Amino acid sequence: MTVTGPGADGVDTSGHALGGPEGFGEGKRTTVTVIIPTFNEAANVEELLRQLAAAVPAHLDCEALFVDDSSDDTPAAIERAALTCPFPVNVIHREVPEGGLSGAVVEGLKAATSEWIVVMDADLQHPPSLMPELVETGRRTQADLVVASRYAGGGSHAGLSGRYRVMVSRTSTLVTKGLFRSALRGISDPMSGFFAIRRGIVHAQADILKPLGYKILLELAIRCRPRTVAEVPFSFQERYAGESKSTVREGLRFLAHLVSLRTATPAARMVVFGLIGLTGFLPNLCGLAALTATGMHYLPAEVLANQFGVLWNFVLIDVLLFRDRRGNRHWADRLGRFALLANADLVLRIPLIALLVDGAGMEALPATALALLTTFVLRFIATELLVYLPGRGRTKHVDTPLPLEKEGTP
Ligand code: GDD
Ligand code: MN
Repeated sequence: MTVTGPGADGVDTSGHALGGPEGFGEGKRTTVTVIIPTFNEAANVEELLRQLAAAVPAHLDCEALFVDDSSDDTPAAIERAALTCPFPVNVIHREVPEGGLSGAVVEGLKAATSEWIVVMDADLQHPPSLMPELVETGRRTQADLVVASRYAGGGSHAGLSGRYRVMVSRTSTLVTKGLFRSALRGISDPMSGFFAIRRGIVHAQADILKPLGYKILLELAIRCRPRTVAEVPFSFQERYAGESKSTVREGLRFLAHLVSLRTATPAARMVVFGLIGLTGFLPNLCGLAALTATGMHYLPAEVLANQFGVLWNFVLIDVLLFRDRRGNRHWADRLGRFALLANADLVLRIPLIALLVDGAGMEALPATALALLTTFVLRFIATELLVYLPGRGRTKHVDTPLPLEKEGTP
């Protein structure tokens, strides 16, 4: 960690001076670390620090912590701006930008030692003048988390460029709130990147965070479960300088993030496993049509077309459902095991149906349904245990159980 600015003590300022008891306006001091993720924001950091410095009241002990993944001269710009900044400015520059924006914020969260942490963007779309109010609201209301919201009464998304972005933002907010009704109760803007959170809430759960993509507030609200949440309306501004770093790829990461958050329990994972399985009929049937059209006999065509479905399912399950556990085995090993299980399922189902009909005297239709269900559950369990659990000699993947999301299925 580089330490710059007049408040630096030459060692590591990430908090020693800031760890004292809180007390806003009561003679005691409140400490806050403002985490600012930066990716090529050289033209913004000076103005950001200037506006932050103007906003910080005397009774707030503030430090800025930039977590930087830039390839431009942002670190030098921060250092320059820090020289005239009245509070300490620290920089963590990451050579490997693991986890993108969220990964950067989590790295900052782990390094902070102050009572409060505020996360905000570097491009001035989040007005720095609001920073003290977020912390003060948290103190006043005893909230663990205070969200600056574009969608609370009085807020606005004026700075969101274009109707398309407004629509994407609105829709994804609605879908997300529907998926996590209890965890996001009281948060009108779970996509906001501007919020204050008590450090204790984050540090208690820091090991279960799996940062992915842009939506760090979503990750914290769902995995850390703050007990009380407050909101402060704000107007999302235009970017001060430079360009947005958000891409279509970020959109896809967001979907993967949603699936990861929503499938934290085995029951939810099984539902998604089943839904993905259903979509596999499509490549299966298309494959069958294409192969028989070439004149192939329908029996070998069935077997071959089934492999299209298996491959399709494997890719979706691997990328969406077991994303965090892919590191436990080589992809070819995972694919081989997955394909073996999928084909065994097919082969096992016939004798099982025969057993239910001839042995237990069931009708063919309920026997088939029961056999389908049984092999489905067995296949799900076998996939968890045999495909995605670490093999012998590999480092064990620690999959910490997450707090249960109470409402039903995704
Ligand atoms: N360290 C680091 N690494 N910072 C990053 C990265 C990264 O990979 N990608 C982006 N950032 C920084 C940017 O430099 C900026 O300070 C902040 O994260 C937000 O990036 P923008 O490119 O300005 O994103 P945006 O304007 O599209 O999104 C903002 O608005 C959303 C609400 O619509 C962000 O605040 C999101 O968090 C917010 O959800
Ligand atoms: Mn922005």
